[in-house]
Amino acid sequence: MSPHELPPKLQLRDGSTLELEVFRPEDAPTLQTFYRAIPEEDRLYLKEDVCQDAWAQRFATRVAEGAIICVVAKANGVVVGEGSLHRALHGWMRHVGELRITVAPDWRRKGLGRVLASSLVKIATDLGIEKIMAQVVEKQAAARRIFQKLGFHQEAVLPRHIQDLSGAKRDLYLMANDVSQIWAAMESLVSDYSPDQGA
Ligand SMILES: CC(C)(COP(=O)(O)OP(=O)(O)OC[C@H]1O[C@@H](n2cnc3c(N)ncnc32)[C@H](O)[C@@H]1OP(=O)(O)O)[C@@H](O)C(=O)NCCC(=O)NCCS
Repeated sequence: MSPHELPPKLQLRDGSTLELEVFRPEDAPTLQTFYRAIPEEDRLYLKEDVCQDAWAQRFATRVAEGAIICVVAKANGVVVGEGSLHRALHGWMRHVGELRITVAPDWRRKGLGRVLASSLVKIATDLGIEKIMAQVVEKQAAARRIFQKLGFHQEAVLPRHIQDLSGAKRDLYLMANDVSQIWAAMESLVSDYSPDQGA
């Protein structure tokens, strides 16, 4: 039983309905099938080689440890979108979480990527994560757009920092959403508010 609350049904912009669920170990085969169907030009820029069996095993282990919280969107039981929050359970980055999202080509531009990202931002804040990062390459324009709309800003560009699946070196854009600032702003709003004012 997952402690994370998600709306059981999700209606997209075009009216289609999906189920949104927290990933369970038994979802691993359908998640790998989902990734194997993602076009190579998209997989080229993903952080890990998601087609390898070893990736699926590592992913499931890290989910079981609590280092990854993954949300899957399903259409009739088939995974059509995946978003995950990756976090360090120990050490100096334990207040930081990283988001990754992927949507099947036929389901793109209907708002699913944004729903997955915003669901994970909510989960991250519920877990007490203070800073949420997204690591994107230049080619991932849609991802950059989604994160910008969710209040992420570009914190750094690391030139030729990553090697894509073809071996080409690419700049890495670090985008961040400092949730602690949002909480601080909300706390100051609350402290400014007095229910007796104007009474
Ligand atoms: C990134 C991704 C998950 C977005 O999924 P999606 O379901 O299409 O996302 P949404 O429909 O919520 O929003 C996409 C936004 O990007 C915009 N967009 C799409 N393609 C774009 C492009 N080439 N340039 C700029 N913006 C683009 C859309 O207009 C939309 O913005 P809007 O809501 O303001 O109109 C999907 O494109 C994908 O899986 N890409 C490959 C994997 C990837 O890049 N993952 C990111 C790693 S963190």
